[in-house]
Parts: sequence; structure tokens; C-alpha cells
Amino acid sequence: MNTQVEAFMQQAREAADGRATGKSLPHESAILHVSGEATYTDDIPELVGTLHAAIGMSAKAHARIVSMDLDAVRRAPGVVDVLTARDIPGENNCGPVVHDDPLLAEDVVQYIGQPVFVVVAGSHDAARRAARLATIGYEDLPAVLSPQQAKAEQSMVLPPMKLTRGDAVKAIESAPNRLTGTFECNGQEQFYLEGQVSYAVPKEGMGVHVWCSTQHPSEMQALVAHALGWHSHQVLVECRRMGGGFGGKESQSALFACLSAVCATRLRKPVKLRADRDDDMMITGKRHGFYYEYDLGYDADGRILGVTLDMTLRAGFSADLSEAVATRAVCHFDNAYYVPEVEISALCGKTHTQSNTAFRGFGGPQGALMMEVLIDMIARKLGRDALDVRRLNFYGTSDRNITPYGQIVVDNILDPLVDQLEAESDYRARRQAIIAFNRGSRVLKRGLSLTPVKFGISFNVPAFNQAGALVHVYRDGSVLVNHGGTEMGQGLNTKVAQVAAAELGLDFSHVRVTATDTSKIANTSATAASTGSDLNGKAAQDAAVKIRRRLARFAAGKWGGAPDAVVFADSHVFVNGRRLPFAEVVDAAYWGQVQLWSEGFYATPGIRWDKATMSGKPFYYYAYGAAVSEVVIDTLTGEWKLLRADALHDVGRSINPALDIGQVEGAFIQGMGWLTMEELVWNKEGRLMTHAPSTYKIPGVSDCPAVFNVKLFENRNVKDTIHRSKAVGEPPLLLPFSVFNAIRDAVASVAGYRREPQLNAPATPEAILNAVMDLRGAGAAP
Ligand code: MTE
Ligand code: MOS
Repeated sequence: MNTQVEAFMQQAREAADGRATGKSLPHESAILHVSGEATYTDDIPELVGTLHAAIGMSAKAHARIVSMDLDAVRRAPGVVDVLTARDIPGENNCGPVVHDDPLLAEDVVQYIGQPVFVVVAGSHDAARRAARLATIGYEDLPAVLSPQQAKAEQSMVLPPMKLTRGDAVKAIESAPNRLTGTFECNGQEQFYLEGQVSYAVPKEGMGVHVWCSTQHPSEMQALVAHALGWHSHQVLVECRRMGGGFGGKESQSALFACLSAVCATRLRKPVKLRADRDDDMMITGKRHGFYYEYDLGYDADGRILGVTLDMTLRAGFSADLSEAVATRAVCHFDNAYYVPEVEISALCGKTHTQSNTAFRGFGGPQGALMMEVLIDMIARKLGRDALDVRRLNFYGTSDRNITPYGQIVVDNILDPLVDQLEAESDYRARRQAIIAFNRGSRVLKRGLSLTPVKFGISFNVPAFNQAGALVHVYRDGSVLVNHGGTEMGQGLNTKVAQVAAAELGLDFSHVRVTATDTSKIANTSATAASTGSDLNGKAAQDAAVKIRRRLARFAAGKWGGAPDAVVFADSHVFVNGRRLPFAEVVDAAYWGQVQLWSEGFYATPGIRWDKATMSGKPFYYYAYGAAVSEVVIDTLTGEWKLLRADALHDVGRSINPALDIGQVEGAFIQGMGWLTMEELVWNKEGRLMTHAPSTYKIPGVSDCPAVFNVKLFENRNVKDTIHRSKAVGEPPLLLPFSVFNAIRDAVASVAGYRREPQLNAPATPEAILNAVMDLRGAGAAP
């Protein structure tokens, strides 16, 4: 090759290197989102004859159904049909793991809100009105309504689990200091803005097409097939996007998919089932609330020597995904810290309430929260700054680096990350200023906290860590990408399109991503555990590379030079000194009979998990982060405000920094909502009283701090992930532990930081006020 060609090629390679990833491109649907043009399931133009379904619910937490009179429902205006459990042609169950989740209750109901029948009418309104007209006779059975009661009665949906390393009991007994007590955190409603919805249309020759707002189209396909007694190839499930899922549409979209499909195929009419917000909150499961009993031993500096932790989850009436949630909780109790001797048990308590499910973090947040609260307690006992106690306990890089479940932490960046955040947030000076402020302020008290995150990425079931993609290059050079992941606002489609564009050297505008569709990619995993872009990005890359190689071989054959020397960049193909538009090469390749589309596949290597011993290597790598939060509380009213938050988060080498920062900000505020304002209240009968935004408060824009510094940590994944990026969806949900601990810090100041506030999560104003009065009542106020 002559030098001119050489220089030219070098230039092209450089252009290719800075390609379509690493750029803050807007979300692929950003304009559609803000203009209202984005199509959600309920926006799909309805076919002629479309009917609407509504669900009739149980009014009892635990009871035998002794009679069911549905005549008034049948006679109500507009009603076409009413179905009960007997009318399900196949399996009356949509349990994702254990088959304990009836679509419609048979003779026993297990929570208030449980679907008992479904009514189909000419309009959504008519169906909902009719659903209220049933007369159901019940014979009450004893109900379990709290995790504590479940523990006391050993009521459980799954066998208990336990993870042991060393002899925690002995370590605690011989430790110089000890902490023993209980703690609680409540659950959380996913509050996706688009509620659960499915639209089923019967197709010729015993087929059905289901548009469903779901994170898991393949599972919906399988469960619809079971409910109908059909094969999977008769069912097509499609999801263009969700208006949020947050875990709530991983398994629990199934009820809606199955019931709409059962009604549609029975009536041979399109049937839509869209849950109203109240019904959605009454029917579907939420984040698991936890009850903890802990016993911890530590030395004079605050180093943890041993812990026994007993967690009871509010699983609800069925198993759903509780096993995976409890496992993740057990594997995240350690968070960023080396705990030499542990005995961690988890009990999935069966309660007669909604069956709890995935929610951003999947039990990880509940596991790690307990640890972060304990570290603050140790610090207060010793009169040390909590950050110093944290650092003392951090995982090491060459020793103290094995987790309780046996995975070696090889990518630890806790120290440099926290160093940077501590400096940039001016932590030490602000700590001093706050202590001084609190001394001089009787009513308002400030609090500060820095908490770290270490979050494991992968499904611990190795098989789930696989993905497929399909890339089509059309003759005009435009590209259509399809993959098995689902878009719920997180920007997965944008990242996958960026990866495909990068591989083909194209501008992002050449690539379009289509709806997730079970007829395109088979046997996909849920878009969950934050693995969406890791898995589907790699699969799309695999597909795009195959096409690029074919094009390179073709171009070298036609224009000369070696296939390896062909460069794809700037939407052009650089071959043997020529710079040809991508579309021209593609068209030529078509006439040369080259396959211009390809499938791609990816499977994460090396994941192992032994359920019996709770050990192995469940995570491909860890994502890290830390945040500093400063709050002020009003000790007369319990009201509080987050004044400033600084977050530094590790996403490896970011594919799209703007999307990643959006995920960090969103997760931070969502996690803060869980820990401080969102309160699920069940009454004595087991009725969820907070089933609408009127009584259930999620954070609003005014709850965001005035100063909110969110930064991505300069890093690159040590593992071979897609463009060396890291998953970002869930890990930052743990950052606002700093908000919760800052509130506890402010409350503790009331008693001169000498005693522990009695404050569980959520730290609502009411709870804060009670904690303050408890400390002041003891006469400890300065
Ligand atoms: N971001 C938005 N905007 N909406 C969502 O529903 N779900 C979260 C997170 N971020 C969610 C979100 C959850 S629970 C997960 S597991 C991940 O996104 C899933 O997407 P990913 O794997 O592509 O990150
Ligand atoms: Mo996310 S809770 O894994 O859907």
C-alpha cells in the first residue's frame, strides 16, 4: 500500500475509533416522548370490534369462596361475557417459577385485590362498572398480614435460605463490642406511569397476537400458551416500549397478557385489558418490605468481626420472584464491606397480601440497607465519623476481597472513587460546619452522610444470561436492529443502536430499532437485573460484525486489498484507497449475492451458582458508586429537605453518558422515595389503603435537591463487556442510602449523637418526628 493510502486508512481508523458510542446522543424516542407521539400499548389504534376487560377482585385477605353470584355483572349494560377460573382453557396459573399464582382464584382467595373473575364489555368504563356488581360469599380463614407474623407462624412461600462463612456466633461473642436489635423497611410500589396493559387479537388458525407492556415478552408468550393450552408458536407477543417497568412488568404483566388472550380467543374478538391505577395497585406486587434481626460484633476501631442477620421478606401470597429477590438480598448485605464471619438467613414470609415481585435492585437494596444502617450505628457508638468506619471495612484489593458467597472481588475501585467524591463534595469541611450549625440551632438540624455501593451484575441462573439480535441492512444502506431486550425508558434501544452503528461505521441516524417481538428473537430473558445493554448490546454487535465481515470480504474482492484493511467509518467504506458511501457498497454487495442481514448471539461466560450452599460466582462483575447527601430536618414537625446531593457513579466506559446520568439521577430519586416518603399501608383486614397517588406519595420535582451533582467515574470494565461499559439500571438506586442515613444523622444530633434514633424506612415526617420526640423525651436534648 502506498503512503497516501496508508495515511488515509489511519485517518479512517481514528474516525472509526471515536465512533457512535461514548456520545451523549438523545434517547431514540426522546422527541416522540415529549411530543406525545410515542405509541404505548393503549395507543395502538383499536381494531373494529375491540372489547374491553376488567377484573373483579377479592374483598377478603384469606377466605373460602362459598358462593358467587355474577348475574348482575352479566346483566350490566354493555357486558358481553363473564369468565371465572373454570373458563380458563389451559392452566389457570401464571406463576413464573413455582406454579402457585392462579390467574383467577378457584375456591380460596389469598389477598384483598386478588382477581376472581373477568368481565368483558363494549367499553373500558362499562366493564369496570359491571365488575363491581358481583355478590361473593366468603368464609373467613386466618390471615397472615405482616412479615413478623409470618416469621412467628413460620408461614412461608419457599424454603428458608442460609449463607454461612466461618463461625459468626463465636466471632460476635468474643468481639469487644456488640450491636443487637431489629430494623424494618417497607416495600415500594413500582408506580410505572403506564399501568399494566395487554391487547390481544385473535389470528387465523388458532393464533393470537398480544401487544403487552412487559419486560419479558418470551415469558408472556409461554404463559399465554399455557393458559390457552396451546404451543408457543401460536402466540406472538410484542412490545414497542413501556412507560416504565421498574421490575413490576417482569413477571406480573402475565396476568394481563393471559386474561386478555383467554378472552380474545374465546370470543374471537380483540380484547384489551388495561388496569386502572387503583386496580393495578390493588392487584400487583411491589418491592418486598423486610424485617431484620441482627447481631453484630466489632472491634475498638469499628472493624466488623462477625454478623448474624435474619431477614424476613413480605413475599405476599405466592412465590413469584421471591427466591431470586431473597438471594440477591443475601448476596448484597455485604455491600462494599468485607465481613469475615457471617450467618445470613432469609425467609420468604407468606403474607395474605399482593405477591411481591421485582423492583429495581431486586432485593439488593434491602440487603445492603441494613449494612449501611449498622455501620452508622457502629460509628455513633464509637464517636467516629461514619466515613472512617466505612473505609476501615471496605473490601481490599489483594486481601479481604472474598465475598461471603465465595466470589473474589477483582474490580474493586471503592477507595479511589470515594476519595474523589469525598474531595469534590467537600465532605470533611461540611461535616464540621454541620456539627457547628446543629450546636447553634434548636429547631432545625442538619445531617450528612456518604454511602457507597457495590452491586453485582448478572442473573445468578447462568442460562438467563443470554441474548439474541437480528440486524438487517437494506439495499439503501439503512439498518434495522431487533433484539430481545425491552425498552422501558432506560435507553436500551438507543445504546443497542449505537453499538450497531459503531460496528458498521455509520452515523446513528442510519439505524432504527423496532419493537421487541417473540417472532423475531426466540427464548429471550427478561430485561432485568440491569443486564439489558450488556446482553443485547453484545448480541447486536455479534450480528453487525458478521455483516461487516461479509461486506469487507466482498469489497476487497471487488476493489482490491485485504479484507482486514477495509475500514467502516463516517458512513463510508474505505477500501484500497477509495472512500465509498456505505449505501453504494451495500447495493453492490446485494448484486453480488451477499447476505445483508444476520443474527447475533451472546452468553455471559463463567457464571456459577450453587443454591444449596449459596456460593459460587453469581456476578460477571460489580458496578460501584457513592453519594453524599445533606439534609435538614424540622424537629417540631418532622419535615425534611434534601439540600444537596453529590453522586459519583461507575458505569465503566459509558456507551451514552447522557442516558447513564439520567439513570443515576432517576434511580437516586426513586430510591429516596422508597426510603423517605412512599408508604404502603395495609389496614387490619389486610386492605391496601394507599392504592392511588392521593394517598401514596412518590417524589415530585420539588423533592429533588437544589444542588444535585451527578458525575460518572472515569473507568473501563476489566471484563470484556460491550465497549467496556457497565450496567447502570439498578445500582444507583442504592445511592440515596446517604439520604436516609443523613436523616438519621440529623435526628441523632438531637441527643448529641450519643443515642441511636428509632427510625425505620420510610423516614416519613411522622416517623422522623416520633424519633426526635423519643430522643428528646429521654431528656437528652442539648
Ligand atoms: N429506567 C426507566 N426509565 N424506566 C424503567 O422502568 N427500570 C429499571 C432500570 N431503569 C427502568 C429504568 C430496572 S428495574 C432495570 S432492571 C433496568 O432499567 C432494566 O434495563 P437495562 O437492563 O437495560 O438497564
Ligand atoms: Mo429490574 S427489578 O431487574 O426489572
